Amino acid sequence: MIDSPSTPLSPGELQGLLDTLVKEAPRCFGEGRVASYIPALAEVEPDQFGIAICHADGHVQYAGDAETPFSIQSISKVHALVLAMQRLTPEEIWTRVGREPSGQAFNSIVQLEVENGIPRNPFINAGALMVTDMLTSRLVMPQHTLREQVRRLAADPTIDFDERVARSEMDHKARNAALAYLMQAYGNIQSDVELVLDTYFHNCALSMNCIQLARSFAFLANRGTNPNDGTQVFSEIQTRQMNALLLTCGLYDAAGDFAWRVGLPGKSGVGGGIVAILPRRMSICVWSPRLDSYGNSIAGRHALEGLVSGLRFTPMG
Ligand code: DON
Repeated sequence: MIDSPSTPLSPGELQGLLDTLVKEAPRCFGEGRVASYIPALAEVEPDQFGIAICHADGHVQYAGDAETPFSIQSISKVHALVLAMQRLTPEEIWTRVGREPSGQAFNSIVQLEVENGIPRNPFINAGALMVTDMLTSRLVMPQHTLREQVRRLAADPTIDFDERVARSEMDHKARNAALAYLMQAYGNIQSDVELVLDTYFHNCALSMNCIQLARSFAFLANRGTNPNDGTQVFSEIQTRQMNALLLTCGLYDAAGDFAWRVGLPGKSGVGGGIVAILPRRMSICVWSPRLDSYGNSIAGRHALEGLVSGLRFTPMG
């Protein structure tokens, strides 16, 4: 019998595919560098690779260094936006931050002044600082609430901040501080800027492994319901909106290239993690610390390309 192109892989075949991707990952180990502008991140052993998928029913499969914790960095911008979308009205959010790709580096300041202190989208640093301000101005314990949110999404109470990474970011905060103070000068930041920075740095400094991250994104592959505990995180419309934003803005000025190669909504972090969503099927987390010039994991992106071809199904195909 000849398989139709959209026949899903059996769990055994999928495990074989994950194991193959782990075997192939070292081919990318000669390229790229570990992020060093946050000194605590520069200490990570570069030649590691892990992959985990969480099916829409909550079942997890993984291979390689999927149980090794790493700094989730910008991937946390999604968790923060989820919290904001749950607690604020669309108008309260989208009048203060846009929904368009920036075409600029994730920490660029150029566009922010030209566009009167309104960040292009919630995933560049300026946008995430704005979302963090929305949360710090409303929550009594913003840091605690963000951590609880991630623990709930992953159904894992052990997830925590790496305080050393958070401190390292605070000690080297100049660029993010410049973005936040510029937005304050435009009247767009409502709480204390130093509190916003501290909360944002802690969120970026959450330490998680591929399995935990894949689980924390599974609701986006399951029409908004978290399969890990059955709770409704998002409506179907919010789920579609978040996935659209991840597809257009999740990989910064490499979002177009990522969509071309992988074709899935995704979010990267300078810790080397990338999370991707195959709507209604699975969430995926890959991790490998060596980054390209855009701040995205090289082996991670490669593996996602391999996974998508191996799955014989993509939403764009
Ligand atoms: O604020 C920063 O620069 C980092 N804490 C996060 C940047 C990041 O992860 C960009 N992603 N590729």
